[in-house]
Amino acid sequence: MPKSGRWHRSPSDFGETVAIRRPWKAIVPKVRALVPLREHLLETRDVQECPPYGKLAKMSRFIVKTCHMRGKSDVGLGSNYGQFRIISVVSCVLSRSDQRGTRIRAFMRQHQTQATCAEDRQAATALGTDMSVQLEQRIRERTAIIGIIGLGYVGLPLIKAFVAAGFQTMGFDVDQSKIGMLSAGKSYIKHIDSSDIKSWIDEEQLTATSDMSRMAEADCLLICVPTPLDDSRDPDLRYVEGTARAIAASLRPGQLVVLESTTYPTTTRNVVLPILAESGLAVGEDFFLAYSPEREDPGNPDYSAAGIPKVVGGIDEASGELACMLYSHAIVEVIPVDSPETAEACKILENTYRAVNIALVNELKILFDRMGIDVWKVIDAAKTKPFGFQAFYPGPGLGGHCIPIDPFYLTWLARKHGLNTRFIELAGEVNSRMPGYVIFRLMEFLNEQGKSLKGSKVCLLGVAYKRDVDDPRESPSFELMELLQKRGAILSYNDPHIPTLPEMRHYDVPDLESIELTPDFLASQDCVLIATDHSAYDYESIVKHSQLVLDTRNATKNVTEGQEKIRKA
Ligand SMILES: NC(=O)c1ccc[n+]([C@@H]2O[C@H](COP(=O)([O-])OP(=O)(O)OC[C@H]3O[C@@H](n4cnc5c(N)ncnc54)[C@H](O)[C@@H]3O)[C@@H](O)[C@H]2O)c1
Repeated sequence: MPKSGRWHRSPSDFGETVAIRRPWKAIVPKVRALVPLREHLLETRDVQECPPYGKLAKMSRFIVKTCHMRGKSDVGLGSNYGQFRIISVVSCVLSRSDQRGTRIRAFMRQHQTQATCAEDRQAATALGTDMSVQLEQRIRERTAIIGIIGLGYVGLPLIKAFVAAGFQTMGFDVDQSKIGMLSAGKSYIKHIDSSDIKSWIDEEQLTATSDMSRMAEADCLLICVPTPLDDSRDPDLRYVEGTARAIAASLRPGQLVVLESTTYPTTTRNVVLPILAESGLAVGEDFFLAYSPEREDPGNPDYSAAGIPKVVGGIDEASGELACMLYSHAIVEVIPVDSPETAEACKILENTYRAVNIALVNELKILFDRMGIDVWKVIDAAKTKPFGFQAFYPGPGLGGHCIPIDPFYLTWLARKHGLNTRFIELAGEVNSRMPGYVIFRLMEFLNEQGKSLKGSKVCLLGVAYKRDVDDPRESPSFELMELLQKRGAILSYNDPHIPTLPEMRHYDVPDLESIELTPDFLASQDCVLIATDHSAYDYESIVKHSQLVLDTRNATKNVTEGQEKIRKA
C-alpha cells in the first residue's frame, strides 16, 4: 500500500469497502491527455469522498467513448494506471454540484449520445462497473438479498418462495404488529406456518423490519403493498407512491425494483419511475425497474407463489433480463413480456375476465332460478366440453382484494382516455346486486313458511370472502349481514377461520363472535345461510339439524338427507 494519496472505496462491489490509494501525479497527466476536462480534473485533487457508484459507471463509459472518439481505443480499457483509478479521478468531477460540474455533465451527455448502446455496455462491462453485471452475478450466486415490501397475503408467501430458493430475505412493513409477530417467529396468515417463520428468523434467512432506511441493504426490492379504491372508486395509489418515495430515499446503484401490486397499465413508468428518478440515479444504468404481477391464490392447495408462472415486463432490456433472472430462481416459470405496461394490463385482463364471467353466471342463476333450472347442474354439464368453455360459479357477490377492485382501475384509466369499459361496468352492476338478490330469496323462502325476515333468527356461515381462507376483505358476507340487520333479522355467524368479526371500512359490522354449530343451536335458527363454502363444515350435519338452509355456493350438493330443507340463491 503506498504511503501517500487519498482513501477511496472500490467501485467493484457495493457493500465491501475496499480502500485503494490513488497515485495522483501519475493518473492526472494520463487523464489530461484523454479528455478536455483537464482543469477540472486537476481541481478535483482536493475532493475527499468518492461519489456514488452509479456515477462511476457513467464516467467509465464516458472515458471509454471519449478515448474511442480520439482514436485511442486502448486507453480506457487498458490503462497502465488501472481502471478504477482513472474512474475515481473523473468521477470526483462528476459529483460536483457547482457550475463546472454541470458543464461537465452536459459535455458528457452530448458525447454519450454518439456511442451505440452495445459499445456502451461492452465498455462498462469490461471496466467492471456495469451495475447490471454485478447484480446479475449476485442473483446467479444467490448472494443477492431480496427485500419484500408489504408483508401481507402476497408478500409473505413470496418470502417463502425466495427463502426456499436459497436467498436471504428482508421483509419491510409499516405495520409494527406484523413485524413484531414475524420477529417472534409467529405467522398471521393461515396458510403460512409459524414453524416456517421461526426457522427463517433463527437461520437468519429473514430479517423483518419497519425501518425503511434499511432498504439499501437489499439488492432486489419487490413491492407488494395494497392498491385499493378510494371513496369515489378511483385507484388509490398512496401506498405504492409512499413505498416508491421510501425506496428513492435510500436507492443505490445496483438495485432492482419490481412492482408486484395490481394496478393500471403505466403505473410503473408514470408513477413509480419518476419518484425513483428523483434520487438522481438513472434507470437501466444505475438501478433497474420492472413490473411483475402477483397471481397468488391464497388457500389454493394446488398453487403456491412458487408454483404460479410469473409474467415480467422490464422498463428496459437490462431491467427485464435481471427481473426474469431473479424470478427464475424462485418461481416455476417466467414469462418475459416486452414492457411493464403489457405485464400490468395482463393482470387486469385476468381479473376482469373473472369478474365478467362471474357476472354472467350470476345473471344466468337468476334467470334459470325463475325457470326452475339449477344453474350449478348446467355449469357441471357445460364443463364436460373439452375446449372453449371454462367453468365459473355464481355466488352471493364478489369478494376479496382483487376481483371486485382491480377492473375499476382500468375503468378509471379508460375514462382518462375518453372511453368506457362497458363490460366491466355491467359486470360490476350485476355482481353488486347479488347480496340483495340473496336476501330477497331468503325473504321469499321464509314467507313460504309464514315467517317474516324481521324477527327471524338467521345464522350466516362463512365470513371470509372465499373457501378456506381467513381473509374477510371485501367479503359479500358483510353486505348480507348489513341487509339482514336492516330488515330486523336476529343475526349470528360462524366462521372457523374468523373467530370475531373485524372492523370493516365500508360496513357497520355487528359486535359478534363465531358461534359453535351445535345441533341445538342449528335447530333454533329459522335459517342457516351458507355464504362461504369452507371445507371444514359438516354439511350433512348442518342440513340434518337446521330448519331451513339457504345455500349460495352449492355446498350442499352431496348431502344425502334433508334435501327438502335446502334452497339455493
Ligand atoms: N391477496 C391476494 O390474493 C392478491 C393476489 C394477487 C395480487 N394481489 C395484489 O397484491 C397487492 C398486495 O395485496 P395483499 O393482499 O398482500 O395486501 P395485504 O393488505 O394483505 O398486505 C399489504 C401489506 O402492505 C403493508 N404496507 C402498506 N403500506 C406500506 C408501506 N408504505 N411500506 C411497507 N408496507 C406497507 C401493509 O401493512 C400490509 O401488511 C395488492 O395490490 C393486491 O391487489 C393480492
